[in-house]
Amino acid sequence: MNKMNTITVIGSINLDRTIRVKQMPKPGETMHTKEIFSAGGGKGANQAVAAKRAEAKTNFIGAVGNDEAGEMMLELLKEEGIGLAGVETLEKQATGQAYIIVDDQGENSITIHSGANNTFTPEHVEEYKELIEASDFVIAQFESTLESTIKAFKIARKANVKTILNPAPALEKVPTELLEVTDMIVPNETETEILTGIKVTDEASLKEAADQLHQLGIEAVIITIGSKGAFYDVAGHSGIVPAFKVHAVDTTAAGDTFIGALSSVLKNDFSNLAEAIKFGNQASSLTVQRFGAQPSIPYKNELV
Ligand code: ATP
Ligand code: RIB
Repeated sequence: MNKMNTITVIGSINLDRTIRVKQMPKPGETMHTKEIFSAGGGKGANQAVAAKRAEAKTNFIGAVGNDEAGEMMLELLKEEGIGLAGVETLEKQATGQAYIIVDDQGENSITIHSGANNTFTPEHVEEYKELIEASDFVIAQFESTLESTIKAFKIARKANVKTILNPAPALEKVPTELLEVTDMIVPNETETEILTGIKVTDEASLKEAADQLHQLGIEAVIITIGSKGAFYDVAGHSGIVPAFKVHAVDTTAAGDTFIGALSSVLKNDFSNLAEAIKFGNQASSLTVQRFGAQPSIPYKNELV
C-alpha cells in the first residue's frame, strides 16, 4: 500500500456542538451536562479530514455560510491542508451545524441544521469539474443536495474516476440515477436495512443485502457493522474484516473516519479491499476512543 490516492469529497461541512451527558435525556426530561464543546464536523468534512490525515491528497467541494461558524470551519480545513478551491462561501446562508448528545455508553443522538450544505447546486459542481477529473476517488454522503452529488458522480464516471457513496443519513428512496453512477456503496446496518429492506443480523443476511445492492449495478459493497467491523463483497469475494477491540467513548465520525482512511489506500480496481478495510477499521478504532468528530480522527503516524 505505497501509492497515496487523490480524493475529492463532495458534501457537508458542519460546526458540531456536542453535549456530554450521563444518559440520554427522555422526552420532557431536564438534566445537567458533563461537558459541552464545539468542534469541526459534517460527514463530508470528516471524511476529507480522515483521508488527508491518512496522507491522501484531498480536495473538497461544498459550501459554508457567510458567518463566524463558516470562517472557523474554513480555517480548520485549511490548517489540515485540504484543497478548498471548490468550497464556496454563500451569502445569506448559515453554515451547517450539528447538535450532538453523547452519553456515558458512547451512544449519540444528532440533529442537523443543513444551512449552506443544502444550497449548493450542480452548477457549482460543474465549476470544479477539474478537481473531480483529477481524482482517484470521489466520495459523497447525504448531507448536501442530491442533485449536486449526482452531477459530481456523473462527471467522475465520464472521467473513469471511481465513486464512493456513503448513504448517510439514511434516505427512504435513493434515486436510481445516483445508484447507476455509484461504484462502491458504504452503508451501516441501519442504512442497509432502509436501502434493501433486509435486517442484517449475520453473514448470510449481509451477503443477501450486498447481492441486492450489486443488482443495482454497484460494483463493490461494504457494510459497516460497528464494533464487529465491516462486511465486504466485491468481484465474487466476500467476508467480514473484524474491528479492533477497544473501549468506545464516542462513536461520532467512526463511519466517516473508516471511509476517509480506507479511500486513501484503496486501489482503483478494489483488488485490495480487505486490506484497505483493515486500515479503515484501525483508524476508526482510534476515533471511537476520543471525543468529538474531527478532533478524534487519527493521523497516519498513529496507524501501522
Ligand atoms: P457513526 O455514525 O457512529 O459515525 P456508522 O454508524 O456510520 O458510525 P459503524 O458501523 O458504527 O458506522 O462504524 C464504522 C466503523 O468504525 C466500523 O466498521 C468499525 O471499524 C469502527 N467502529 C465503530 N464502533 C466501534 C467500536 N465500538 N469498537 C471498534 N471499532 C468501532
Ligand atoms: O458522522 C458524524 C457527523 O454527522 C458529525 O460530525 C455531524 O456534523 C453530523 O453531520
